[in-house]
Amino acid sequence: MRSTLKDLLAPAQVQNYGVGAFNIYNLEGATAVVQAAEELNSPVILQLLPSALKMGGRPLVSLCTSLADKASVPVAVHLDHCSSAEIIDQALGYGVDSVMADGSELDLARNISFTREIVERVRSTNGYGGVEAELGKISGMEDGEIVEAHHQQMTKPDEALTFVRETGADALAVCIGNVHGTYHRPPQLDFNRLDEIAAKVNIPLVLHGTSGLPDEMITRVIGYGVCKFNVNTEIRSAYLGRMRHLLCQHDRCELTTLMKEAINSMKDVVKEKIRLFGSAEKVLAYEPS
Ligand code: 13P
Repeated sequence: MRSTLKDLLAPAQVQNYGVGAFNIYNLEGATAVVQAAEELNSPVILQLLPSALKMGGRPLVSLCTSLADKASVPVAVHLDHCSSAEIIDQALGYGVDSVMADGSELDLARNISFTREIVERVRSTNGYGGVEAELGKISGMEDGEIVEAHHQQMTKPDEALTFVRETGADALAVCIGNVHGTYHRPPQLDFNRLDEIAAKVNIPLVLHGTSGLPDEMITRVIGYGVCKFNVNTEIRSAYLGRMRHLLCQHDRCELTTLMKEAINSMKDVVKEKIRLFGSAEKVLAYEPS
């Protein structure tokens, strides 16, 4: 059943669990995420980066929305990390339910006005699904671009209060030491900062760069109010690793066999994350009262 970012995160915030938002690029990825969520009775978010949207366009969004419509669990289709109002409009026109307005390259005042403008635009469309915003700057590999470690900016709790109040965003991505892609050093999250942010803002918090974070860190940040976790690298590595292995082992491979193997390898990762985020068997939270 089709859902939205806003509707998936509201019960997660109240009941203290996380919803997985998995970056997908094609049929295999979207199928793996939805099947894993169905097998564990979990809500889930299919999310597309602008590069995937550019590659797959309306057909890729339609694939996601049609899998979401048919799923036995609530599924939202979300545009990840977008700094362009035009691409956001295009994605909404293709049928995504919600977007991430990424103004993290901008100073505070311009990030506020960009995010507020996107919130207003999305609100003017049918069936408002929500806007996620970012305050601070997460480093690492983001949609094919490297954001150097020295460009990382931690989210400031006082700014978070102003930002949320002035933008009307529905979810806030924070930078507390989390990194997109591979952690080249053991991850260090600033839990005190997260605690302060959570005390100031009352909207669901989002953690990007979930791949590679130890389980105990995930459990701990859920306790501080993180209810959306973005996962890209681990699911993509599972796909590519399985393909590489099969292609190296066999001279001839049916493409459909490769696709099935790729789906199963990604499904294992998604199921492990869903269990860790605590969203398995949480479907009842979404039944109309
Ligand atoms: P990882 O690639 O580190 O899992 O991060 C994904 C992400 O945050 C996408 O927005």
